[in-house]
Amino acid sequence: MMHSAFAPGKLILMGEHAVVYGHPALAMAVERGMTVSLKDRKGPTALVNAQINDPRLAQALLTVLPEEGVGVTINSTLPTGRGMGSSAALAVALGRASLAREGLEADPAEINRRAFKVERVFHGTPSGIDHTVSMLGGALRYWRTESGPQFEAVDLPPLPIVVIDSGIAGNTAEMVAQVAAKQPAAHRDLAEMANLLDGTLPALKKGDWVAVGHAWLENHRLLQAVGVSTPLLDRLVRLAVDAGATGAKLAGAGGGGVVIALAPEPEAVIGQAEAAGFNAFVTGCYPSR
Ligand code: MEV
Repeated sequence: MMHSAFAPGKLILMGEHAVVYGHPALAMAVERGMTVSLKDRKGPTALVNAQINDPRLAQALLTVLPEEGVGVTINSTLPTGRGMGSSAALAVALGRASLAREGLEADPAEINRRAFKVERVFHGTPSGIDHTVSMLGGALRYWRTESGPQFEAVDLPPLPIVVIDSGIAGNTAEMVAQVAAKQPAAHRDLAEMANLLDGTLPALKKGDWVAVGHAWLENHRLLQAVGVSTPLLDRLVRLAVDAGATGAKLAGAGGGGVVIALAPEPEAVIGQAEAAGFNAFVTGCYPSR
């Protein structure tokens, strides 16, 4: 018997890294994601297909599956290791599929518990924003408090987002540690990022792409200031703006990964990115569940 589940990836629209320190960030689930299929078989639990080559994967699977008897197939429509929530999508899909395999109900609290356990294998001490938005879909303003994570759904119009893949994988745990090593100096930049998000929400909700584009450029500048951008990511931000985007920023932990551009005319940005040798694509919001 086979048990399969899908979960979407995500983009952090504003506030990555700030969210690790209790500030709010805005994340959106995307139309691409991960499908995990579990099938009983003889022998040790292991990945059956080789689409993903990540040494942390075997340990991640065993946080929610028995050591013996399960063949796991993972199919991804997300670029992996690019800040688009591939590990969170994997964690949520695996949480859902593992519950189904055990004949248990898809209880959101239990999916959340399993997914967070898997996420921790990949990212050490994640804020939890990635797997939460993957579970719930839509767009979320998310922040952490001493009593636990808080979030609210944010109703956004369709955003004209082009994703440009730098082709370089970033390591979230390393980038989070790098920002931690810069505390308290980075504290002011992170707080400013949070204010920027809250000041930009009205423009986001009414689709004022010029104002949002400026805010994304400012968010990118603050991410540069805390040391998580790279010359390549800066170059891709400039490329997008030169091609007509109203603004652009790195999205996710940085050090590699993707840049998101707000591009009312996406073909121009995609064309320029491809001409420079980068994969670029439009992505929309995965609906809330
Ligand atoms: C999340 O995709 C990126 C970071 O904010 C880390 C986290 O929230 O766990 C950098």
